Amino acid sequence: MLARARSLLSLAEKVLVLTGAGISAESGVPTFRGPDGFWQHYRPEDLATPEAFARNPRLVWEWYAWRRDQLATCRPNSGHLALARWILGRHGVTLVTQNVDNLHEAAARAAAPPGTDPALAYPVRLHGSIAHLQCTACEWREERLDPIDTTSEATLPRCPACRALARPGVVWFGEMLPAEALIEAGAAARQADVCLVVGTAGVVYPAAGLAFDAKRHGATLIVVDPGETGFDEAADLKLEGKAGVVLPELLAGGPP
Ligand code: OAD
Repeated sequence: MLARARSLLSLAEKVLVLTGAGISAESGVPTFRGPDGFWQHYRPEDLATPEAFARNPRLVWEWYAWRRDQLATCRPNSGHLALARWILGRHGVTLVTQNVDNLHEAAARAAAPPGTDPALAYPVRLHGSIAHLQCTACEWREERLDPIDTTSEATLPRCPACRALARPGVVWFGEMLPAEALIEAGAAARQADVCLVVGTAGVVYPAAGLAFDAKRHGATLIVVDPGETGFDEAADLKLEGKAGVVLPELLAGGPP
């Protein structure tokens, strides 16, 4: 199975890689739907919707501030690194992620040989970035790495341009995905010879739909995941295992 997947990837001219929370699990970032996932302990409608933020911005900011603090200590794992090295060493790969962490970027910077632009292995972000803040009233959006003061509503971050409340720069349930990201990811899905899906349960759309679009347009679908996913029936190959173990074997031809 691994040898077949390797050969398909090496023959492919265009590859779409779609990643989800599972690729960051071995870096210590909790997933959403696993036994210890966020949605076992919290309700998405209380924390990850525009309505929740309008109702109680401090509660929502507390959750995101905690996740930002937690992510500040996380490092890319062998799965992120193998993927970044592989992308930097060839042409024709579009990496698309649902993750709001910055571990793909960190892996690209760590893996890029001198003189190579790490941005070539940066992902297209479907769900935004937790390191970014954006204004609830105007177009302001910026990366802000300093801690968020959630002591009271008055201490929450504000837009430097118009003073309206700032919110996390992520996509919430019920919101549109960034149009540019969706267009780029959709085009990559339609052109892909192989679609490699890593660490996503495949239940959140339109992200999950990209893998099915790729398959409909002729791509071979390879899934890397230790658990059951919504892609399993459509998958041509399923490599059951953790991303940090399977990706180095698949993409670098050796153990991590
Ligand atoms: P989920 O938590 O739904 O799924 C994580 C997947 O990763 C599961 O299929 C696990 O089996 C798998 N997994 C766990 N550990 C792994 C490992 N070490 N290596 C590889 N796979 C592993 O996360 P997503 O599918 O990414 O959206 O969730 C999609 C979206 O739902 C998120 O972007 C977020 C969430 O609600 C928004 O917040 C809008």
